[in-house]
Amino acid sequence: MAGTIVETSQRAILDLSWIRSQFPALARESNGRPVAFLDGPGATQVPQPVIDAIAGYLSANNANTGGAYPTSRYTDGMILGARSAMADLLGCDPDEVVFGPNMTSLTFAISRALGRELKPGDEILLTQLDHDANISPWRALEEKGVRIQFVDIHEEDCTLDIDDLARKISPRTKVVAVGYASNAVGTIHAVDEIVKLAHDAGALAYIDAVHYAPHGPIDVRQLQCDFLVCSTYKFFGPHMGVLYGRREHLARLEPYKVRANTNAVPQRWEWGTLNHEAIAGIPGCIEYLAELGARSLGKQAGPDEPAAKPGDRLASRREALQLAYRAIRSHECELSRRMLAGLADIPGLRLYGIRDPARVLSRCPTFAVRIAGHSPLALATKLGEQGIFTWDGNYYAIHLTERLGVEKDGGFLRIGFVHYNSAAEVDRVLEALEGEAG
Ligand SMILES: Cc1ncc(COP(=O)(O)O)c(C=O)c1O
Repeated sequence: MAGTIVETSQRAILDLSWIRSQFPALARESNGRPVAFLDGPGATQVPQPVIDAIAGYLSANNANTGGAYPTSRYTDGMILGARSAMADLLGCDPDEVVFGPNMTSLTFAISRALGRELKPGDEILLTQLDHDANISPWRALEEKGVRIQFVDIHEEDCTLDIDDLARKISPRTKVVAVGYASNAVGTIHAVDEIVKLAHDAGALAYIDAVHYAPHGPIDVRQLQCDFLVCSTYKFFGPHMGVLYGRREHLARLEPYKVRANTNAVPQRWEWGTLNHEAIAGIPGCIEYLAELGARSLGKQAGPDEPAAKPGDRLASRREALQLAYRAIRSHECELSRRMLAGLADIPGLRLYGIRDPARVLSRCPTFAVRIAGHSPLALATKLGEQGIFTWDGNYYAIHLTERLGVEKDGGFLRIGFVHYNSAAEVDRVLEALEGEAG
């Protein structure tokens, strides 16, 4: 990683040195070795502007909302600013952005409100690949007589069986709730096709973009989804959940809320006092990504994405964010190819998910593996002792670990890369895994 520019391929350039300098945690050592943070799917590290914004808010402007004095007015404005930052990331209007403690709570809020409209016999379609936060809130409606169906997977590459989805969807289906990408095996799903199938059947489309958001661009208008949820702590921000809801749904559905809470959209979905200091960090994270995008301007994109035209100028923060994701995707595809090639050479290792390097665009750089004779917990512990931070278990993708028969044996070892990780870190974890397998 020496030098300021890292060539991710002959044509794609990402300024990894600048990127890493933004994240103070990346300087951390463990047992005398630099830490390789390969735990991004659990939570990502945060860049300095996020840390400064959170500390700055608490030092100078801490207040509740709606008061007739400067710090309270500042807080109102700060929340508006965070909404518009998220709107730029998601491609919607600021008043379609709802903040909540995390994705799970927001999904319970929407499932409860939608449940008020559902009747016994109505159906909700979920998938075997999803995180339980996009399953249990919907299953809670079974007590009202709502029927839950599950879309199966293709076991060999852990992709969704779209034919099964098409078979199971019917006029009885009222909601199709699906992840954008799997937090366990990294598969990116054909969500645009799924949204279309849902709408053709008259159902609402609810997209869990928690795992996808650090890896790829989101455009809720293009997707035409009804709801989309993500969590800023998974993409370099503070611990917050964010929900996009189409304005008409946010206005029509009836949330469970206290009487004094406003009925205005989107605040009618935000109950009690929010975590203001965390919200204060959100624009910092969006600005960091926008700067990453601006810095990539003029550089040619990689083979996986169309190149920026020479002389391109940034018309908006949204455009800078699109550029950021183009650079991120290109870098992450290189990491994925390197990882797939290395994993294929390790004896006794099984990778769950897409293995073909030609298909890296259909996956995130999130790798679920098992090594014969080693539990995922033992592997994660050994790697952790060497300063390589990974995860083990089911990470709440429990339907998948059960479906694949690994739940009772400790799930998978999950190695997750994001854009601040380097090719050297890929090599380091491969070497460590080889050492364990050998
Ligand atoms: C794909 C996915 N969905 C949902 C969640 C739950 O997010 P939160 O912790 O914000 O409730 C996670 C958390 O790991 C996740 O990876």
